[in-house]
Amino acid sequence: MEVVVEGNCYVSGRFERCCIGIENGRIAKIAKMLEGDRVFSFGNRIVLPGAIDSHVHFRDPGMTQKEDWGTGSLAAACGGVTCALDMPNTRPSTTTLTSLRDKRRIASSKSLVDFGLFAGLKPGIDVRALAKEAVGFKLYMGSTTGDLLVPQPSPIRAEISEIAATRKVLAVHAEDETMRNKESERDLEGHLRNRPNECEVSAIRKIRDAAKDCRLHICHVSAKSSLPLLANAGTVTSEVTPHHLLLDVSSRLGTLAKVNPPLRRREDRQGLFQALKNGSFDIIASDHAPHTIDEKHEDFDYAPSGMPGTETLVPLLLQHVKEKHMDFSGMVRRLCENPGDLFGLRKGRIQVGYDADLMVVDMDSTVRIRVDKLHSKCGWSAYEGMLGIFPRAVLVRGNVIVESGEQVGERVGRDAVVSASA
Ligand code: NCD
Ligand code: ZN
Ligand code: ZN
Ligand code: ZN
Repeated sequence: MEVVVEGNCYVSGRFERCCIGIENGRIAKIAKMLEGDRVFSFGNRIVLPGAIDSHVHFRDPGMTQKEDWGTGSLAAACGGVTCALDMPNTRPSTTTLTSLRDKRRIASSKSLVDFGLFAGLKPGIDVRALAKEAVGFKLYMGSTTGDLLVPQPSPIRAEISEIAATRKVLAVHAEDETMRNKESERDLEGHLRNRPNECEVSAIRKIRDAAKDCRLHICHVSAKSSLPLLANAGTVTSEVTPHHLLLDVSSRLGTLAKVNPPLRRREDRQGLFQALKNGSFDIIASDHAPHTIDEKHEDFDYAPSGMPGTETLVPLLLQHVKEKHMDFSGMVRRLCENPGDLFGLRKGRIQVGYDADLMVVDMDSTVRIRVDKLHSKCGWSAYEGMLGIFPRAVLVRGNVIVESGEQVGERVGRDAVVSASA
């Protein structure tokens, strides 16, 4: 074998001391003992599949004062994310083959981790061309960062049926713009009043009716009242974020915690938490949406919505597992296996034929999250002071990219969608 990783590996739903043999970046063999040109022995440390953060905004091109592919992917990598799926609300927005390829060129030159690129859904896009190179499509039904708002499904009926025919995922920001209040906002309560729970429920209903044949994926579910709609929803999948599970409108963080959909009541948060425990939500993703601290210091009404989170996604959840709110299988399913399966990537499992994307974890190494140790360009975090477990080492396709919380090796990231079909 070219590379061998030895440790307490999570294989087929349980841990076993074994060796992972890697050839050409792919897992070629799993056995008790293997010989390799390079051997990484992690002793009793646990080895998990690298996480796939299926919802990030790396802001590049166009908003690189907030983040870029270099800093965003470094933050992801240091948090155990080995593949990041980037949203199309950049500048320009990713709605043409040209803008998609431009973004791929930028990402390929700067990214530490593998990636996939979403195409934005708006009237007139070339669905068939974009479907060949995008990881999925993204629809914004409510206003948020960027210029991709499509408040009603009527002008995109043709595009929706074309997307259905491609079998690509249609990911949806589900807030009904027509039900949003537009009062001036002074605090998180005001932001919540303007975007009530019914906004989300209504948007989910509308898109379900308008896109019956699509593989719909509802992003960042935030309201307890949305859960019944997702329970018997056939092929509709859903995502929840750490911020909607861990924070609510009582947060004292002000504009830093202004996010879309908004942080809601404690009962919503607890409802999501309980639903997760009971097996709901296919995916947990960060919705990493950095803005500069200066932008966030504007008056509440003008401050942009969104918070960073890709680097803290895995650490918060590992701590969660340690505190027995979730087991490893529930975590690996939502962070690795399901996103890999849903988006058709050969990633997210320690299994022969899969990319050798791995993270090595010591469950005894809980730390307090400190902004000065994080790597996003934005330089702040809503999770400062909370407990987390950061991976000791991270590998992308057999290359060690992070050791002891810092970058090592080269920036090997590539587009997981296009390289897979090439
Ligand atoms: C995101 C952003 O800033 O790009 N903001 C947010 O509040 N979540 C956009 C989005 O996902 O809605
Ligand atoms: Zn969104
Ligand atoms: Zn987002
Ligand atoms: Zn550092």
